[in-house]
Amino acid sequence: MAIKVTPLTETDIPAAIEIIQSAFAEDPYFQWVFESEQFNKERNSDSLAVRCLWGIKNAIFHVAREVADSDTDSDTIIESESFLSSKEGEEEEKKGKAPVIGVSCWLPPQPPSTPPSWYTWTQDWLLSCRQMLNNVRHWGRGGLRTNRYWIWKARQQDAQSQIWDDPRGYYFCNIVAVSPRWQGRGVGRKLFEAVTERADREGVRCYLESSRDVPNVSIYEKLGFEMRMEMECRDGGDVCMLYCMVREPKAGQ
Ligand SMILES: CC(C)(COP(=O)(O)OP(=O)(O)OC[C@H]1O[C@@H](n2cnc3c(N)ncnc32)[C@H](O)[C@@H]1OP(=O)(O)O)[C@@H](O)C(=O)NCCC(=O)NCCS
Repeated sequence: MAIKVTPLTETDIPAAIEIIQSAFAEDPYFQWVFESEQFNKERNSDSLAVRCLWGIKNAIFHVAREVADSDTDSDTIIESESFLSSKEGEEEEKKGKAPVIGVSCWLPPQPPSTPPSWYTWTQDWLLSCRQMLNNVRHWGRGGLRTNRYWIWKARQQDAQSQIWDDPRGYYFCNIVAVSPRWQGRGVGRKLFEAVTERADREGVRCYLESSRDVPNVSIYEKLGFEMRMEMECRDGGDVCMLYCMVREPKAGQ
């Protein structure tokens, strides 16, 4: 069997949400920004669904799945043994599609000198409206501590304004999540390479903010990223650290 990375489609969205929620359940940023007792999983799913729909048109949103060797092409596969449980396999076979085992969302490089297009502006506005509708439908933000969200946003703005000095902009890895029992099997690398190989060809840098020091920083170092800054998000005595990393394009790719 092998791993194939393809663009997210609408039918992949429920599986992608499941993976994001399970991979981030123990995530330090997630635990800092959400009130655990008030966390509303359904509200969070609806919010992620809206984000995925936006991402299909405006971001580089990929899913990874295990497929038969015959269902791959050389650019998007890695060799692996099969890790599918028979139940998962049967269910997916009935649906005719292999299960999603990883997901990533990247924002394309946006040169700071280029203002957002009308299309981008409209899409962002639509995303905000849909998120507002979610607030109404679920009577609130599902446990999101909005003050902490805005603390994070402000710190992110500071960090990016200090680190982002490339006029071509950066490929920004916004989400990467691998199903817990597939982690450490090369799926993350495959999801990264789907974008970093393109960044190398274009000579563009990549950027991410890791919400975990161990083990993620060393995982990202193996994928070519270097630590640039530690970002402290502080709400009184509660602190969440994020690790800002940049990947230089590799020449001759
Ligand atoms: C972080 C994550 C996306 C990485 O994906 P993955 O499929 O587990 O990673 P891979 O198996 O492709 O490993 C990539 C590289 O890191 C190394 N690596 C994997 N796990 C590691 C660990 N625990 N410690 C050190 N290195 C590790 C691998 O050996 C590989 O390097 P190599 O190809 O040179 O051998 C995945 O573990 C995950 O979803 N974690 C939970 C959610 C999360 O933290 N998301 C990111 C928030 S910033």
